[in-house]
Amino acid sequence: MTATGRIRHAGLAAKVVDAEQAAAHIRHGDTVGMSGFTGAGYPKAVPQALARRITAAHDAGDPFRVDVWTGASTAPELDGALAAADGIELRLPYQSDPVSRQKINDGLMEYIDVHLSHVAQLAWEGFLGPLDVAVVEVSGITAEGDLVPSSSIGNNKTWLDRAERVVLEVNAWQSADLEGMHDVYYGTALPPDRRPIQLVHPGDRIGVPYLRVDPAKVVAVVESDVPDRNTAFAAPDDTARRIAGHLIEFLEHEVSRGRLPAQLLPLQSGVGNVANAVLAGLEESRFEQLTAYTEVIQDGMLDLLRSGRMTLASATAFSLSPAAVDDFTAHARDFRNRIVLRPQEISNHPELVRRLGVLAMNGMIEADLYGNVNSTHLMGSRIQNGIGGSGDFARNAFISFFVTPSTAKGGAISAIVPMVSHVDHTEHDVHVIVTEHGLADLRGLAPRRRAQVVVDRCAAPEYRPLLTDYVDRAQAAAYGRHTPHLLAEALSWHVRYVETGSMLPS
Ligand code: COA
Repeated sequence: MTATGRIRHAGLAAKVVDAEQAAAHIRHGDTVGMSGFTGAGYPKAVPQALARRITAAHDAGDPFRVDVWTGASTAPELDGALAAADGIELRLPYQSDPVSRQKINDGLMEYIDVHLSHVAQLAWEGFLGPLDVAVVEVSGITAEGDLVPSSSIGNNKTWLDRAERVVLEVNAWQSADLEGMHDVYYGTALPPDRRPIQLVHPGDRIGVPYLRVDPAKVVAVVESDVPDRNTAFAAPDDTARRIAGHLIEFLEHEVSRGRLPAQLLPLQSGVGNVANAVLAGLEESRFEQLTAYTEVIQDGMLDLLRSGRMTLASATAFSLSPAAVDDFTAHARDFRNRIVLRPQEISNHPELVRRLGVLAMNGMIEADLYGNVNSTHLMGSRIQNGIGGSGDFARNAFISFFVTPSTAKGGAISAIVPMVSHVDHTEHDVHVIVTEHGLADLRGLAPRRRAQVVVDRCAAPEYRPLLTDYVDRAQAAAYGRHTPHLLAEALSWHVRYVETGSMLPS
C-alpha cells in the first residue's frame, strides 16, 4: 500500500519513486512507448520530467532526443512538453498537438502517420525496431500485480509486452470504478498463427479486465493525481446541426427501405464537434437500442448511454469534457456494464469492423468530385493530425460517411475540390459525403454521376458554378471520359489559395 492506496502489490509499491528518478531510466536515442489516446490515459508526470532532462542536456550541449510511440493523441504534458523541448526525433502513429504539428511541418520532427490498428502488428513484427521503455498510466495495481487500465487502453498491452524497461504512472485521479470496465484480449498473434477473434457482438468480453506486466521489467512506479486533458466541446453550431440532420434523415431512409435494421448497426463516430453533433442529433431521433463499436467515447455517446437510447458502447478510450468526466465518475458503476474499453488493435480491427457491419462517421479536410477523401493534409503538404482510425473503419464499414462543413477559413477554401491534394480514403472506401448543404450517396454510382451528385448536394453555392464548369470542360477535353480531369488544372484551386489566400478567383 502507498499514499494513494492504489498500489496493492508489495513488490511494485517498493519501486515508487518521483517522476525525475523515473525519467532517468530514459536515455538519448531510446524508443519510448507511452500510453494515451485522444487526451485520455496518458502519463502526466514522467514526460514532463523527461522534457526537463532533455532541456538540461541541450543546455549542456549534449544531444537528447527520443522516438515516441503512443496509442493516439495525448496532451500538452506529453506531446507539447517533449516537442517544445525539441526532444522528439520520430513520432507515431497520431498526434493533434499544436507544438508537435508545427515542428513536423517545419521539418524538425519526423512523423509516421499509421492506421491505428496496424501499430501493434508493426511493433510485434519488429519492423519499427526495439522498444526500449514503456511509460504507461494505470489507475491501480492489484495485489497480484495486475494493472488496472486507466481511461484509455490504446497500445498499452503491446508496449508492456515488448518494452525492455517499464515505468508505471498510477494516477489516483482516475475513477477507481474503472476496474472491471476493460477487456484486454491476449489472443492476437502474427501470421501464420492468427486465429479468428471470437467477438460477435459489440459488448462481448473476450479477454481479461487487467493488463499484465512482468514485475521484473518495472524499473519505476510513479504516483500522480492529475486530470486528463478533457477538452470541452463547443455546443453544436448551425452547420454541425444541419450536417447531423442530413445524416440522421439518411439513416431513417435506409431503415424505411429495409437496408438497415431499426436499431441501426454499431456506430463509429470520429473525433470533433461535428461528430459530437451527430450523436446529439441521435439523442433527439427516434432510434433506440443503439450500439457503438468505435474508438472513443465522447460526451454525446455518454448522453446516449445515460438516456438508454444506446445500450452499450465498445471503444479504446474516453474523450470527455470536464463536465462529462464528473458525470461519468459519479455514475461509473452504472456505466461499467455498458462500456467496454479494449486495446486499439481490437477496437479498430478491420475484420471485426467488417463483420459487425459498422456505420463509420468521420470528419475530413476535403473531398473531390469522384469521392476521394483527404483527412490529413492542408494544401497537400501540411499535416493537420493524422489518419487515426478513420482508415480502419472507413475501408471496412458497412457504410462509410465523411462529414465536413462545405467551406473552411470563412469561405476562402472549398471542402469540395476538383482533385484532393492528398488521398487518405480512395473513392472505393467512401460511400457517403455530407456537408451542411446536403448528402451525396455515392454507392452504386459511376464516376461522372458521382461528380454531379457531389457538386449538387454538397458543394457551397459560391463554388458550385466553378465545379460545374470544371466538370463540363473536363468531360469535353480530358484524356479519358471515365474519370475526367484536366491535369493542368486539377490542383489549381489549392495553388490559388496558397498564392492569394482564397480558392475563389479574384
Ligand atoms: N483546407 C484547408 N484547411 C482546412 C480545410 C480544408 N479543406 N478544412 C479544414 N481546415 C482547417 C480548419 O480551418 C482548421 O484550421 P484552424 O485550426 O487553423 O482553425 C483545421 O483545419 C481543423 O478544422 P476543423 O473544422 O476544426 O476540424 P475538425 O475538428 O472537425 O477535424 C479533421 C477535422 C479532418 C482534422 C479531423 O476529423 C481529423 O483529424 N480526422 C482524421 C482522423 C480521424 O478521422 N479520426 C477519427 C477516427 S476514429
